[in-house]
Amino acid sequence: MRLDVVTIFPGYFDALELSLLGKAKQRGLIDVRVHDLRDHAHDKHRTVDDTPAGGGAGMVMKPEPWGEALDGILADADPAADTEPLIIFPSPAGEVFTQRMARELAEESHLVFGCGRYEGIDQRVFDEYAARGRVRLVSIGDYILNGGEVATIAMVEAIARLVPGVVGNPESLVEESHEDGLLEYPSYTKPASWRSREVPPVLLSGNHAAIAAWRQEQSVERTRRVRPELLTREQRGETRPRHAAE
Ligand code: ADE
Repeated sequence: MRLDVVTIFPGYFDALELSLLGKAKQRGLIDVRVHDLRDHAHDKHRTVDDTPAGGGAGMVMKPEPWGEALDGILADADPAADTEPLIIFPSPAGEVFTQRMARELAEESHLVFGCGRYEGIDQRVFDEYAARGRVRLVSIGDYILNGGEVATIAMVEAIARLVPGVVGNPESLVEESHEDGLLEYPSYTKPASWRSREVPPVLLSGNHAAIAAWRQEQSVERTRRVRPELLTREQRGETRPRHAAE
């Protein structure tokens, strides 16, 4: 999978050299290319922002550097690929990123992340690339970050770990929070007793069916407590079955 990132802070993406993603890069499973937006600003100060049209607080990112950066990346995309690159702009105004979206995006062969700063990017950049290809605005949650960099790192990590081969043991992808719509059950390791806190005896019983049932119960209970909106009506204990006509 090829991943291009456009940013005024390339240093943020040094984090992608670490851990599993760093290994995946070394092994050629993901090809990450980070581009400095300021390389596409041609005045003496390498200016990428300007005051908002119509007035108001803050600064808006100018369209010209974005146009040059994105045109360069698109021109360099694999012409033999089945699909054109998908451009993602992290934005608190976008659709919310979920595990389902991560799975969907893990199927793509080329993602481009455009990291906005300040009060955002001139709207014409979105309009231009949406008219020419595929663009999505994506939020990682209902809070405001200083820019798209941290959101991009979160999304790249969630997506790249679903690319076959990135996570060594694919089974560890299955039993995780959100993969089955529930939060993950609690985990324990040795020693069996720590500060008088015991590993639940069922986990030491060797009874695999009982362990699976306990974990399922814990998942449902935790989800009910913390994120009840994730449960189906049946799981919530509302026994009346849902009818198509409802
Ligand atoms: N940029 C600023 N806040 C953001 C958020 N919550 N998600 C994605 N991009 C952002």
